[in-house]
Amino acid sequence: MSLFLVLGGTGKTGRRVLDLLTAQGHTARAAARTPGPAADSVEPVRFDWDDPATHDPALAGASAVYVVPPALRTDHPPLIADLARRAADAGVQRLVLLSARGVDAGPDNPLRQAEAAVATAGLPVTVVRPTWFMQNFTESFFAPGVADGAVVAPTGSGAEPFIDAADIAAVAAAALTGEVGPGAYDLSGPQALTFAEAAAVLGGRTGRPVVHVDLPVEQWVAGAGANGVPDGYAAMLGALFGLIRDGSDAHLSDGVSRALGRPPTSFADWAAREVHPPQGPGDVPDTRGE
Ligand SMILES: NC(=O)c1ccc[n+]([C@@H]2O[C@H](COP(=O)([O-])OP(=O)(O)OC[C@H]3O[C@@H](n4cnc5c(N)ncnc54)[C@H](OP(=O)(O)O)[C@@H]3O)[C@@H](O)[C@H]2O)c1
Repeated sequence: MSLFLVLGGTGKTGRRVLDLLTAQGHTARAAARTPGPAADSVEPVRFDWDDPATHDPALAGASAVYVVPPALRTDHPPLIADLARRAADAGVQRLVLLSARGVDAGPDNPLRQAEAAVATAGLPVTVVRPTWFMQNFTESFFAPGVADGAVVAPTGSGAEPFIDAADIAAVAAAALTGEVGPGAYDLSGPQALTFAEAAAVLGGRTGRPVVHVDLPVEQWVAGAGANGVPDGYAAMLGALFGLIRDGSDAHLSDGVSRALGRPPTSFADWAAREVHPPQGPGDVPDTRGE
């Protein structure tokens, strides 16, 4: 019997990986600091990147592991290197790492360092490198802006081929079960949209206008720092926004069709599935996703 360990098991991709694995009849462990209740075929397990005592118990008996580096941090590469070693020692047969597209542009990106770290553990590794998630508009930092009708992003008229977290999860789940082999998969959506175009689609779904508000990257980084985003992470996000702004992140990647034999989900189809109008007068738009 295979047992899958899914780190970030309550997060945007981990949750969807668990759904796919259990729908296929597999048993999985959902790992997080607050892993939530047990469900059919899902065993919650407490896992904290900063508490190594939680690592071996989470790995025990697992045949494959989905590794989600913690967001808002840049200090995770040594933690991920240690976990990959522990996974190999525990007899794990496959590791799937969530990284990001473009991290290989230079050696300094922490996700690139995480990729290098897992490669030395002696396990077959599949790296998924997605573009910006569509779910950032519904389950993450842009969601309040969508509800308020103004998405603030320093991207100018630059476009991004946003990807559906469900597509990332589908590739990750297939890699965990061995249907997709080791290697790196750059994953993008099927079309690059400017933030103004994305905002228009979201407004069309919620029934309330949503606009894109542009500002200089430096101003966004300073504001994020003032709102509690750690400085190093805010600077990294600023650099990523800069790539969208100057057009260098607009290209498409074929990882979804290469891995799954089908095209990735479009922004419009994702929004039709996961973005809904408010339920009644005075309600904020329901952008929580499904
Ligand atoms: N969002 C994007 O557009 C995007 C694009 C490319 C790559 N990525 C990468 O994807 C990764 C995940 O980011 P995300 O925004 O998608 O997050 P997420 O997976 O939606 O949420 C974070 C998950 O990790 C868990 N977690 C957070 N801190 C933890 C810790 N210290 N120890 C153990 N578990 C922890 C959370 O549960 P608890 O809080 O209960 O622990 C939750 O399950 C990041 O490395 C990010 O750089 C994101």
